[in-house]
Amino acid sequence: MIDRGLAAASARGLGVIAKRPVANAPWRFSERPAGDYCEPYWERMQAMRLDPGSLDWQEYALRFAAFQPGVCSVIVGTRSLGHLRRNAELVERGPLPEDVVASIRATFAAADDGWTGQV
Ligand SMILES: NC(=O)c1ccc[n+]([C@@H]2O[C@H](COP(=O)([O-])OP(=O)(O)OC[C@H]3O[C@@H](n4cnc5c(N)ncnc54)[C@H](OP(=O)(O)O)[C@@H]3O)[C@@H](O)[C@H]2O)c1
Repeated sequence: MIDRGLAAASARGLGVIAKRPVANAPWRFSERPAGDYCEPYWERMQAMRLDPGSLDWQEYALRFAAFQPGVCSVIVGTRSLGHLRRNAELVERGPLPEDVVASIRATFAAADDGWTGQV
């Protein structure tokens, strides 16, 4: 669904802004953040059982999302100037290796239980 939308936007020469590319950083919570709007993202993270390897979660998520085909910009919320700077540095590192991207996409596809976008 998202791939079709991104491809259609690209075909029309439209840019796409990716909302919540770090999914409200669900790795902040060791226990279910019941009632927090991060909760559905936390559930999906548990279901996928991704392994960021040598990267930290912020880098893994941000470099994945920012370089998906058709994505032109990402919005990350932060209350920290240091985090803002680090996010810019992470994006400057460029996309994750192709095999890592393929692995994330395959894991998402396998776990996807009709997941819809969160508004
Ligand atoms: N994200 C969007 O696309 C979007 C769109 C419309 C409105 N908003 C609004 O903007 C506000 C913030 O957005 P959001 O909560 O959805 O943001 P988000 O980008 O999904 O996640 C923000 C979380 O990521 C953490 N974070 C960001 N950079 C980090 C870094 N380098 N290292 C570690 N942690 C980092 C933040 O903690 P720190 O604050 O400690 O850095 C915060 O806990 C909300 O009020 C939301 O409704 C967001």
